[in-house]
Amino acid sequence: MRRDPALRSRRHQQHRESRDEQRESDWLSTWQHVYDTYHQSARRDALGEDFTGWDSSYDGSPIPLAHMREWRDAAVERILSLKPRRLLEIGVGSGALMGRLAPDCQSFVGTDLSPVAISGLSAQVTAHPELRRGVELRPQPAHDTNGLRPESFDTVVLNSVVQYFPSGEYLDEVLSVAVDLTAPGGADFVGDVRNLRLHRCLLSAVQARRSEENADRQTLRRAVDRAVATENELLVDPGYFTDLATRHRDVAAVDIQVKQAVHENELSRYRYDVVLTKASSRGSTGLLGRLTGGRRSAGASRFLAARRRSRGPVG
Ligand SMILES: C[S@@+](CC[C@H](N)C(=O)[O-])C[C@H]1O[C@@H](n2cnc3c(N)ncnc32)[C@H](O)[C@@H]1O
Repeated sequence: MRRDPALRSRRHQQHRESRDEQRESDWLSTWQHVYDTYHQSARRDALGEDFTGWDSSYDGSPIPLAHMREWRDAAVERILSLKPRRLLEIGVGSGALMGRLAPDCQSFVGTDLSPVAISGLSAQVTAHPELRRGVELRPQPAHDTNGLRPESFDTVVLNSVVQYFPSGEYLDEVLSVAVDLTAPGGADFVGDVRNLRLHRCLLSAVQARRSEENADRQTLRRAVDRAVATENELLVDPGYFTDLATRHRDVAAVDIQVKQAVHENELSRYRYDVVLTKASSRGSTGLLGRLTGGRRSAGASRFLAARRRSRGPVG
């Protein structure tokens, strides 16, 4: 049974009404501006090889190319193991994953909040004959399903994107959208999620590196508290995703995967990947409908944290 699209959009609308839409839209505009600026100056020589902006939180220097290639290849390998044929990547960015995934797929749709990212990537696709067929790129935010048919993708990818979401409610909505767009039995890969449980560990390591050698514990603790208070990205406890499986019939399985890497860095140590498998038989209500009748459960909120911080994106 195909779900009624009007019903689905009403559910999304209901979910939105309980939120501070102005704040969310300001937040999205801010990140769009950040990424438009970033993609304007991006190097566009080799597709998927531009890691400008992926700077170390410890000292601000670029994360070494070998580390970034390992990070990208590990994500590609995990996604290819899902055997994608019709793939949607939400937040496709500069195409780091797309360049390797699209040639193996029958169709690849990439969306991004940043129109500048999409136009730059479109120009690169035109220059790659092996990508031209079957690739479609659309400038639209993650919650926007315009032009995307329900259940038309066997794999939906959100890699290194959810940290820029304005709130846990927005994450709920986007996961609902992703699951609705996924065919029964398909998978949603939510990669490179910043781990809320390890947040203080990361910040302590960063502050210890940045502080004077003889800084005392109190000073360090205060610096970590300040860094926690000024965090402006969304961090998610892995429990949020395991909780999804218990709350939603469409999510048949949740696989939380620690990063596997030879190179140790803040990406391999403090982030994780998640694979949500959509049930093969279609239920009658979508994911969002089961999010406690449109209201986010108190249970889910304990797994989320959106905090302000002053510096720009990691990449
Ligand atoms: C760190 S890059 C990741 C790019 C790519 N997924 C990868 O793994 O290389 C984050 C991308 O997410 C996009 N983004 C951020 N917030 C978004 C949103 N709400 N909807 C869609 N894209 C978003 C940004 O414009 C940026 O291109």
